[in-house]
Amino acid sequence: MAETLRSSAQTMMAAEQIIPPPPAFAAQALLGSHSAFVKRWQDSVENSEAFWAEEAAELLSWEKTWDQLFVDQGECRFHWFSGGMLNASYNCLDRHLTSRAHKTALLWEGEDGSERSFTFRELRDLVAQFAQGLAAKGVKQGDVVTLYMGMVPELTITMLACARLGAAHNVVFAGFSAESLGARIGDANSALLITADVCYRRGKEIPLLAISREALQQCPDVRELIILERAGSPPLPQSSSGEHLLFPPQGGASHFRESSWQETLELAKGQQHPAVAVPSEQPLFMLYTSGSTGKPKGILHSTAGYLLGATLSCRYVFDLNDRDIFWCTADQGWITGHTYGLYGPLSLGASVFMYEGALDFPDWERVWRMITRHRLTIFYTAPTALRAFIKQGPDRPRAHDLSSLRLLGSVGEMINPRVWHWFYHTVGGERCPLVDTWWQTETGAAMVSTIPGAVGSKPGSAGYPLFGIDLQVVDENGSEVARGSQGYLVITRPWPYMMRTIVGDHQRFIDTYWRQLPGCYFTGDFARRDADGYVWILGRCDDVINVSAHRISTMEVESLLVAHPLVAEAAAVGVRDALTGQQLQCFVSLQPRVSADSSTREALIAYIVRSIGSFARPREVVFVESLPKTRSGKIMRRILRDKAEGREASGDLSTLES
Ligand code: WT7
Repeated sequence: MAETLRSSAQTMMAAEQIIPPPPAFAAQALLGSHSAFVKRWQDSVENSEAFWAEEAAELLSWEKTWDQLFVDQGECRFHWFSGGMLNASYNCLDRHLTSRAHKTALLWEGEDGSERSFTFRELRDLVAQFAQGLAAKGVKQGDVVTLYMGMVPELTITMLACARLGAAHNVVFAGFSAESLGARIGDANSALLITADVCYRRGKEIPLLAISREALQQCPDVRELIILERAGSPPLPQSSSGEHLLFPPQGGASHFRESSWQETLELAKGQQHPAVAVPSEQPLFMLYTSGSTGKPKGILHSTAGYLLGATLSCRYVFDLNDRDIFWCTADQGWITGHTYGLYGPLSLGASVFMYEGALDFPDWERVWRMITRHRLTIFYTAPTALRAFIKQGPDRPRAHDLSSLRLLGSVGEMINPRVWHWFYHTVGGERCPLVDTWWQTETGAAMVSTIPGAVGSKPGSAGYPLFGIDLQVVDENGSEVARGSQGYLVITRPWPYMMRTIVGDHQRFIDTYWRQLPGCYFTGDFARRDADGYVWILGRCDDVINVSAHRISTMEVESLLVAHPLVAEAAAVGVRDALTGQQLQCFVSLQPRVSADSSTREALIAYIVRSIGSFARPREVVFVESLPKTRSGKIMRRILRDKAEGREASGDLSTLES
């Protein structure tokens, strides 16, 4: 790891030039100068309670304001805006109806080119009606509803309908397998799954319904499966109660009933469920992500604190205003899609653009055509996508009219200076500020970035801590390292939009994030701060790898592999990849008499894809006689990584088993 750190630091040293904010943008910016930013930031951390209170009062609509801004109940139970009551769907929809009823809230393009759009009023009406439909099925405040739907407007509608009732949504990315979906439903204690018959990706139908049914075989507590019909299903059969059933239970074989999404909506025709005011700390959603152990963790977010983070960062980092159409290319099944594909922009009353399919379908110019066609103003994407665009033809954006764009954003991994410049010059025409944003599923919203118009960018650096956020780069003992040195990135105090717990395992929350370096939130990332205070993220310091901005736990893959009957021992490592950032490579020693051939390899790859999802497909499975270990029996992953990246085994091998 030390070696990886040194080489990435060297690359960055060379690139520490500051790109000042584009003048035309700066002239109209919310904050006019770097010194205005520093002053406001200092004030926001020195008087942080006053800062959060002011922003929460200004940016959110409350049914009842809070009594206490922050309560530390001990054992890392942090409560923000205690005593306050509000509703997230009200904040994203109803409150905009006075001035924005006929403004577009959501604009959608399907992979086949079809378009749908919804005004704030239309979206509110659908959300309120669907919420009524869910309530009629017994969904109430505090319940957990799992969503496995793909990128369709009905996903947004369903998420907001859950929020309207005070039920927590648990969105599962449509690339996950039946096994992963089932595990997430079970762990979240969710009694209802909402899916679609299919979704479309690269022209192919993904059979969400079949996967959902398979998943539910491991979920005895799920009572109902609601299905959005997209593929032109045959007419619905009727049950004895008169309600339509998509697939009537056959001989009592399944423990859950099936009903249709459209019917759920239809049955509530003419009715609107009011937005239920919930306490600030009511869970808004959970989202499962990979950690450094085998089991994915359910990251739980609150209503008030999370919504404040989403709204605040949209305002300052994305400079969002009423005329913006925001496109966040992340799937809504990830946190980026939650915060910037839905809650943040809608809460501010901006329009969001949602695209169903793959960015490269039918070709790599789809993205530029969509920006031109819909006059999108903010384009937020991941470096892995940018690298693919460059590879497919670095000049292609120039062939399109991208003049509607006014701000660019990057997220998910470090943006290399070369890629930064390409994005800034070729896509943004040097007129759009480019904000890098460092954050995590756990942090809820952006934590480190540059305030566009006020703060210049250093390509490759994520920027400064945002308002109210204080961070440090520390050594193993928790002491701050000198400026310019590398260390662990920690956040030195709680903030309103941070996760509240890991579903069902509060102790793991404490141990993973708050006990590594007492008193601080441990991010799991290496970083360094330069002399100007800019933060440079240097990658993970745990067993999490980042493949095309998707988080994969190498421990999760290892524990799966060793559970396979053909496998004796296994190790999984992340190896550098020019396009995807990292790739997964597995080293496997097989059980006696199992042949190390391509059919065994294919079987193991298919097993990982089946268990996690296709995005976790290893680039390679290498068969080895035995794995390199220390005397105490720990697998030496560093050696495997060196081997995978084509280097001679490096470093101290003295503890290696001979
Ligand atoms: C990890 C979090 C919420 C963002 C999407 C991914 C890495 C994220 C950056 C960035 C360098 C970044 C970190 C972080 N990461 N953004 N701008 N520069 N690294 O969320 O799946 O929870 O992953 O992604 O390593 O810890 P996530």
